[in-house]
This record gives sequence, structure tokens and C-alpha cells, in this order.
Amino acid sequence: MASPRDRTAARSAQGTIEQSVTRRHKRAAAEAAAELVLPGSRVGLGTGSTVAHLLPALAARGLEGLRCAATSPATARAAQALGLEIVELDELGSLDIAIDGADQIDPRGWLIKGGGAAHTREKIVAAAAARFVVIASTEKVVAALTPPVPVEILQFAPHTTLAAIDPARLRKVSLSPDGNLIADYLGAIDDPARLAARLSATPGVVEHGLFAPSLVSDILIAGDGGIEHRRGEKRP
Ligand code: 5RP
Repeated sequence: MASPRDRTAARSAQGTIEQSVTRRHKRAAAEAAAELVLPGSRVGLGTGSTVAHLLPALAARGLEGLRCAATSPATARAAQALGLEIVELDELGSLDIAIDGADQIDPRGWLIKGGGAAHTREKIVAAAAARFVVIASTEKVVAALTPPVPVEILQFAPHTTLAAIDPARLRKVSLSPDGNLIADYLGAIDDPARLAARLSATPGVVEHGLFAPSLVSDILIAGDGGIEHRRGEKRP
């Protein structure tokens, strides 16, 4: 019979295998998305570990004339280190394509984003793009969205804002690059559209991490069977 130490070692080995499978799936989705980028494009770059695979895949294509807008300082630094040109979104005006990860993807194409606390800039970049492509490993697919929903809120009277979106709590992370607090809404998500409208209408909420299907053009989900390509509602 296996000892407790053997069982712990087996669990840890299983965890490591799962992590490496997830990593492989994230890389596959990211590499497929990099192939969608055309020379001369204005490209929005998301934030997170899936996008971390996109940046080298995009740089390796050596496309002429790419100009990229980053959704976080971390992505901007990583992209620049790979030789990708980073430009302010305002300078580009609009984007041909943006590519980003997601925390959850439901069957109707609703997303939860903001696990990396970058959802405010990510939503601005997604909305500015003619084509918004979501890349994910299969573990991000869910039958129904579940909390938490990331919420960026103003530093002014945060507990008043949190009470207005109860149940919610502050996340113990640094301020956003725009100087705001990051919180999480923890209640039920019976109707994502209604919750999104409620969060958007709450004074003090800067942005929430619910992304509607109307923002999304394509969802590339990588798993053991290859890449599933779902179409969103946003058409270039
Ligand atoms: C960051 C995000 C990320 O796209 C999301 O959290 C997915 O992250 P990862 O690719 O690391 O799984 O919304 O704010």
C-alpha cells in the first residue's frame, strides 16, 4: 500500500503533468492566433501566460510593419524585448486585430477576464480592434460562468463601492497601472448581461471583467484533439 509520502509525490507529479499539458495547449492556441496576423497590422496584445506564448510566436513570424498596443506594462516590456514595436493605442487610433486570453468562456461566448487584473485596458483594446481573437486552453471552457468577476474600482471610498456591488471584496494586489484598486465580485452570475449592466452602472466601478459576445470575433480553444475555432458576434 502506498505511504502518505508516496501519495503526496504522486499528486505532485500529476499536478506537474497537468501544468505542462495546459502550457502546451496555451502555446498551441497562441501560435494559431499569431498566424492570423497580417504584415503591416496594428495589433493589440493582451496580458497573461497564454499571451506570453503569443509574443515569441508573433515575433518569430518577422512580419513587416507591425505596430502593437500593449494592455499592460509587463506585456509591453516582454514584446519590446522580442523586437516588437510598441506604440500608444491613441497613436494607432484603432487596431486591425487584438489577441488575448480569458479566465472563463461560456457556451454563448461570454468571457470572464481580469485574472491578471488587466481587464480595463484589455477591454479598451478589444473594443478598439476590428477583430478580437481569444486564445485559451480547454480548461477555460465552462458550462456557466462562476465568480469571481474582477472589478477595477476607484481609490475614493472603495468600501462604499464594494457595498454597492455586494458581495465583493478587495483583491490583495498592487494598484492597476491607472492607479485604481482591484476587487472581485463574488455573487451569483445568473444573467451575465444583467450583472454587466449592474456593475457598469455602479458609481466608482471603472470596469468589470465580463466581456460580452459582441466584443469577440474568434475563440481559439486548444486541447488534446487540436484547436476548436468558435466564432463570436463581432465581425471585422
Ligand atoms: C489578464 C487576463 C488574462 O487574459 C486571463 O487572466 C487569462 O490568463 P492566462 O492566459 O494566464 O491563463 O484577463 O487580466
